[in-house]
Amino acid sequence: MTQDELFKVLVAHCKEYGFIFPSSEIYDGLAAVYDYGQMGVELKNNIKQYWWNAMTRLNENIVGIDSCIFMHPRIWEASGHVGAFNDPLIDNKDSKKRYRADVLIEDFLAKIEEKMNKEVEKGRKRFGDAFDEAQFRATNPNVLREQAKYDEVHNRYKKAEDANDLAEYRQIIIDNNIVCPISGTCNWTDVRQFNLMFSTSMGSTAEGANTIYLRPETAQGIFVNYLNVQKTGRMKIPFGIAQIGKAFRNEIVARQFIFRMREFEQMEMQFFIKPGTELEWFKKWKEQRMKWHVNIGMGAENYRFHDHEKLAHYANAATDIEFNFPFGFKELEGIHSRTNWDLGRHQQYSGRKIEYFDPEEGAAYTPYVVETSIGVDRMVLAVLSHSLKEEQLENGETRVVLSIPAPLAPVKAAVLPLVKKDGLPELAQEVMDELKFDFNCQYEEKDSIGKRYRRQDAIGTPFCITVDHQSLEDHCVTVRERDTMSQERVPIAELRALIDKRVNLNNLLRNL
Ligand code: GAP
Repeated sequence: MTQDELFKVLVAHCKEYGFIFPSSEIYDGLAAVYDYGQMGVELKNNIKQYWWNAMTRLNENIVGIDSCIFMHPRIWEASGHVGAFNDPLIDNKDSKKRYRADVLIEDFLAKIEEKMNKEVEKGRKRFGDAFDEAQFRATNPNVLREQAKYDEVHNRYKKAEDANDLAEYRQIIIDNNIVCPISGTCNWTDVRQFNLMFSTSMGSTAEGANTIYLRPETAQGIFVNYLNVQKTGRMKIPFGIAQIGKAFRNEIVARQFIFRMREFEQMEMQFFIKPGTELEWFKKWKEQRMKWHVNIGMGAENYRFHDHEKLAHYANAATDIEFNFPFGFKELEGIHSRTNWDLGRHQQYSGRKIEYFDPEEGAAYTPYVVETSIGVDRMVLAVLSHSLKEEQLENGETRVVLSIPAPLAPVKAAVLPLVKKDGLPELAQEVMDELKFDFNCQYEEKDSIGKRYRRQDAIGTPFCITVDHQSLEDHCVTVRERDTMSQERVPIAELRALIDKRVNLNNLLRNL
């Protein structure tokens, strides 16, 4: 299966098993908006809990808040979002479809890269063990021609990006005959800046209404509450404020399922520090956040840092943690050293003094900030795309299994009476009653036991507990483990401890 096909399988699986549905589906859906189903919400909540507890319980100097989606419109002027939270868009006059000009160029560059890689793979096959990739790339005429084209377009694009030259974006598209995938034509409008914030009005009458925005990041809710939390919590620098909440962006190119949505959720933490210590803290938070990811157990090789060369005007260091999604390594989390830019701007726009009196320094200053910002939905996608597997079994059958790390799995244990009679459902219900206070469990009595195992594999349940006739006598049940499919006989009284050892989130937290 190609990566593209695999991704389609994942999207279909998410729908079939109640993880993620297209929003408003009976009305044909709403682009780039998705709803979480009964399984998806459990997975999402577990991810959020892992993050929240890692931030607020394991760090005595980090506290959480929950600020509102609606905020004073001046906040978005101060933060720079009204003026500069833009994407360059271009329309095709024939198909009337809208695109991001930068994405059209980047996709074009990616295609050239793909051509070069294909050429290299052909060479590798032809020369076998004697193949020297560096030499091949430096001498093969087809690769050299594509590389020259790549360099020329890439240099023009970077210059246009630095100069914010929208006319040059269009010229690159025209000169390289980049066509609309729908109409196949190069009949493009000018490139315009498009602000990504959604706006609405607040007030009971249209005349008296104020334009307000749906927040495009949760971070500003933290900045504007900095003084409240610092004073009421008697927080001493360095300290952090964490928040999980919805954010909204009118993305022009919204694709790749829940990777880029118009309504999504962020988990952000702003760490307030003494000016001059920011690069030290930036390094520390890079390490901490990578550790949090790798600790989940999805393979250290599937994560990498991508340090930003081009920094936003307010940042003096920035990196992405990228994950190996089915469509390649892409941003999962951002870590940014934002200096005192945000607090400084709110000080200026609100007229309120936002400073910290440092008793050790005997002086007041506007704190600097290191931010960690991760998309909940991207984490869900990382977990699901890594976990979905089709396995060939020894008996020739295949099974689809979601090997979700056990502490994040939506359902921890399924309780299954072998048959729907002879007192087995009653005993199975007793097992449910024993476990349900500690774990999210599912009771299932319909279909053959094999079919029920398959259904639980497909939603990623780590343990299936089968109650059979023998159980009525010895008070033992068969516990089947999802990944190995191994089975063992366990006394009902020991079930809770056995499951807890594998699925308790605290075990993950203890390793941090
Ligand atoms: N406060 C900083 C900030 O918002 P960002 O890089 O724009 O930084 C942070 O976003 C994270 O939010 C990203 O790494 C990504 O995980 C998530 N994110 C951003 N836009 C998203 C979208 N349209 N859909 C889903 N997740 C998104």
